[in-house]
Amino acid sequence: MYQSSLLLCLCLGAVLKCAAGAEWCYTGCAHTPTNWGDLPGSFCGGKRQSPIDIITSKVQKDPDLVNFSFVNMSQPVKSIKNNGHTVQCTLEDVQINGGGLNGTYSTTQFHLHWGDTEHHPGSEHMIDGERYPMEMHVVSVKKGLTLEEALADPQGIAVLGFFINGTDDGDLSGPWSVLTSLLPNATATVIPVIENLTLDDLIGNVDLTKFYRYMGSLTTPNCTEAVAWTVFHEPININKNLIQQFPVKTGLTNIYRPTQDLNNRHVSASPATPLPPSHPWCYGHCEYSVSHWDLLPHSSCGGSHQSPVNIVAHGAVRDKRLNAFTYTNFDNRSAIKSISNSGHTVMCELREDLLEVSGGGLGHVYSTFQLHFHWGTAQESGSEHTVDSKRYTMEMHIVSKRKDLTLDEALQTPNGLAVLGFFIESHPKSSPSVTNAWETLTSYLPAIQNISSAVDVKANLSIDDLLGNVNRAAYYRYNGSLTTPSCNEAVVWTVFEESVKVDQNLITMFPSQIGYFNVFRPTQSLNGRTIYTTKSSSSAPGPIMMFPLLACLHLFV
Ligand SMILES: *[C@@H]1O[C@H](CO)[C@@H](O)[C@H](O)[C@H]1NC(C)=O
Ligand SMILES: *[C@@H]1O[C@H](CO)[C@@H](O)[C@H](O)[C@H]1NC(C)=O
Ligand SMILES: *[C@@H]1O[C@H](CO)[C@@H](O)[C@H](O)[C@H]1NC(C)=O
Ligand SMILES: *[C@@H]1O[C@H](CO)[C@@H](O)[C@H](O)[C@H]1NC(C)=O
Ligand SMILES: *[C@@H]1O[C@H](CO)[C@@H](O)[C@H](O)[C@H]1NC(C)=O
Ligand SMILES: *[C@@H]1O[C@H](CO)[C@@H](O)[C@H](O)[C@H]1NC(C)=O
Ligand SMILES: *[C@@H]1O[C@H](CO)[C@@H](O)[C@H](O)[C@H]1NC(C)=O
Ligand SMILES: *[C@@H]1O[C@H](CO)[C@@H](O)[C@H](O)[C@H]1NC(C)=O
Ligand SMILES: *[C@@H]1O[C@H](CO)[C@@H](O)[C@H](O)[C@H]1NC(C)=O
Ligand SMILES: *[C@@H]1O[C@H](CO)[C@@H](O)[C@H](O)[C@H]1NC(C)=O
Ligand SMILES: *[C@@H]1O[C@H](CO)[C@@H](O)[C@H](O)[C@H]1NC(C)=O
Ligand SMILES: [Zn+2]
Ligand SMILES: [Zn+2]
Repeated sequence: MYQSSLLLCLCLGAVLKCAAGAEWCYTGCAHTPTNWGDLPGSFCGGKRQSPIDIITSKVQKDPDLVNFSFVNMSQPVKSIKNNGHTVQCTLEDVQINGGGLNGTYSTTQFHLHWGDTEHHPGSEHMIDGERYPMEMHVVSVKKGLTLEEALADPQGIAVLGFFINGTDDGDLSGPWSVLTSLLPNATATVIPVIENLTLDDLIGNVDLTKFYRYMGSLTTPNCTEAVAWTVFHEPININKNLIQQFPVKTGLTNIYRPTQDLNNRHVSASPATPLPPSHPWCYGHCEYSVSHWDLLPHSSCGGSHQSPVNIVAHGAVRDKRLNAFTYTNFDNRSAIKSISNSGHTVMCELREDLLEVSGGGLGHVYSTFQLHFHWGTAQESGSEHTVDSKRYTMEMHIVSKRKDLTLDEALQTPNGLAVLGFFIESHPKSSPSVTNAWETLTSYLPAIQNISSAVDVKANLSIDDLLGNVNRAAYYRYNGSLTTPSCNEAVVWTVFEESVKVDQNLITMFPSQIGYFNVFRPTQSLNGRTIYTTKSSSSAPGPIMMFPLLACLHLFV
């Protein structure tokens, strides 16, 4: 039933040699998509995998994604074959180039992905969480490269993805009916040259100037990360009854891979692609200023467990489980990969899978992926949290996600993220090593004055260098949210009691070099949440002690 087959057989056509490999399938064998990563020589567990869910609100236009050109698209299909995983059509003399691709690519085949006879959709890519009934993949290999070389080139393969949408009234006699009439039911069958069937006819009037682009992988084992993906915005509309023919006639159902984590990749779009209006938010003056963040699409900013909060020190409850943290690689001086200006903050991106934090009553291991800053003006303080209504000069947030979750999952999980908040205060006599570290950090600010600019960090700088010997054993803990839209209530907060002391001139560089200021959210209502503390006894009695005390006072009145 399941051919012993390789990506080469499946994705690159019958012309290529097939070595024996482990069996894989979509359902009903030992190696279903969740454990394709275990197959020998597999890249399926990698970080630039396909397919993905394209979230259009996060897509950015790229002016270079133009002049896509398709040569010999009306060459007839050379053969059709059912290879046990899909139905594949081979092509010859077809080429693509332009469209932001790195060179000219020779098209060797196209194949399809679909769902089942119950109208369950089966496209591989998704758009804003929606799956189409089917998807067609047109596979091309960079011209001048052997297949081996192409697989070793990060853009050696170009795949064009076309969504296929089912309509009630579509043509029942056009090119798609020619294709469905020829669908082979058995894996051995190879149907030769079909004069009447061309890629041009199958694609129909899809607007080829509207597409998404990202770097990914083959979607079948061994999922080699060599694919420059093009996913067209407009679907091919065909009659629903023809879509039904694919699972019915081939016996293959739900032949699609689940979407993969984007990790740190970006999806871009050609200039002609219609994208949803962006919803710029801000702290001060724009349509979605801080008091209107709750009106943004998919916003949790109006929720009841929001951050930051004012910490009332004597109201914090002692929790003995709040023990010492374990920091992994916080001392690594090449941990900071780049520094960028997001338009809302200065953000340091950390090297992937390097830093971790655990202990501290967190109950999970978290991987630390970025840190950023909140500030006020040159004169006024701008921390987000306040303690007994005192606002500190700045606040640094070190952001980690639960190691066992993807970032998307973490954002939907109450303790998916852990943020460590450190207050920063100016001090004339900050330690020389801390001054040195902050001088190094702020020396990058002049290079990122433009919004969306970023520079690589080459200097030797660790998080420990920035923190110095601040007391990391005394802290507050509560459940809260991200402090910027979408304000996901996914954060276990740790706010350290002692501040990091930094020279005032270095602090002032944030508003003066970056050009915007007061980038902090006002404190939010606790709504009955408890703030815990590591401290054994606060200077004033805790809330439980307050009641007898009040009662005594009443007795004496
Ligand atoms: C997996 O891919 C690599 C290179 O992309 C290739 O050398 C290797 O033979 C492949 N392994 C299998 C089992 O297909
Ligand atoms: C696209 O084609 C036009 C006209 O030939 C040319 O002027 C332009 O530079 C091309 N753009 C890119 C990004 O290749
Ligand atoms: C287009 O097809 C013709 C006829 O098969 C062939 O001679 C020509 O080389 C093809 N062009 C390219 C760029 O492959
Ligand atoms: C384009 O391909 C060439 C050769 O294959 C390679 O040297 C170059 O780095 C690639 N450019 C990009 C932007 O990937
Ligand atoms: C998909 O088909 C449905 C009818 O079945 C139609 O309403 C819808 O507009 C189509 N979607 C696109 C993006 O063309
Ligand atoms: C495939 O279809 C042919 C006729 O169209 C039929 O004779 C044959 O039994 C079918 N094979 C399978 C495996 O269904
Ligand atoms: C080719 O397709 C057209 C319509 O799409 C049809 O009229 C014609 O009979 C077909 N020819 C062959 C040889 O199948
Ligand atoms: C820091 O991390 C890098 C990996 O990014 C590693 O190569 C290097 O050895 C580490 N340095 C120390 C001092 O652990
Ligand atoms: C900021 O952008 C302007 C105009 O795009 C450019 O001239 C300038 O060099 C940029 N500055 C930096 C620091 O990148
Ligand atoms: C970082 O440290 C290494 C080893 O200590 C040294 O060779 C290198 O020059 C330093 N880089 C910078 C930018 O200070
Ligand atoms: C956070 O919420 C979880 C579950 O809702 C709860 O078990 C935990 O005690 C809370 N932690 C704090 C610090 O409130
Ligand atoms: Zn495919
Ligand atoms: Zn923050």
